[in-house]
Amino acid sequence: MQLFLDTTDTAVLKDLAATGLVDGVTTNPSLIAKSGRPMLEVIAEICDLVEGPVSAEVAAVEAAAMLAEGRKLAGVAANVVVKVPLTREGLIATAEFAREGIQTNVTLCFSAAQALLAAKAGATFVSPFIGRLDDHGADGMGLITEIRAIYDNYDFDTEILAASIRNPAHVTAAALAGADCATIPPGVFADLFKHPLTEKGLEQFMSDWAKTGQSIL
Ligand code: G3P
Repeated sequence: MQLFLDTTDTAVLKDLAATGLVDGVTTNPSLIAKSGRPMLEVIAEICDLVEGPVSAEVAAVEAAAMLAEGRKLAGVAANVVVKVPLTREGLIATAEFAREGIQTNVTLCFSAAQALLAAKAGATFVSPFIGRLDDHGADGMGLITEIRAIYDNYDFDTEILAASIRNPAHVTAAALAGADCATIPPGVFADLFKHPLTEKGLEQFMSDWAKTGQSIL
């Protein structure tokens, strides 16, 4: 499973990328706004920090304008993936990007029917929003399971990118449901390393080791 960071915070990204466990990055207009920086500059900096896919989202709502914006974003670096909303116009643009060899991440996916259309349009990734569905009283993880079954039934290559992740349990559930990737907020990513029994066990080992008076080096 590929693990992406859902962030525009380059300091945080640099820190977590040093673990070698960050396979890519996703951004969205809200995260760009939060960064307070010019979009193209942030995307270029992120692309320098990670080798994997970096999603940069279009702001236009009509296909022709999405295509113009997407081509510009794709020109920033070879690992840019153009993020497009799951609308009729977005899927028209997605199909054209596929013809042009530009990778896409179709975002704001909330139903299996939408995911089916994204795959048919040739999306590289589709982003079902788990947390927002759960907030809405629906079953976010159930959607991943449905999309997995549909994509496997027809051998679609579109990768399922679990998004709107709120906690470590979302990550493991998405992995169990067969998501290809998950995009994770930095705080949740940092929590993935932790378990109270790991901390407790390590404390005990360190204290017992100190009693031996030994040194390995
Ligand atoms: O980038 C898409 C995404 O992961 C949104 O997450 O927390 O705003 O629902 P959230």
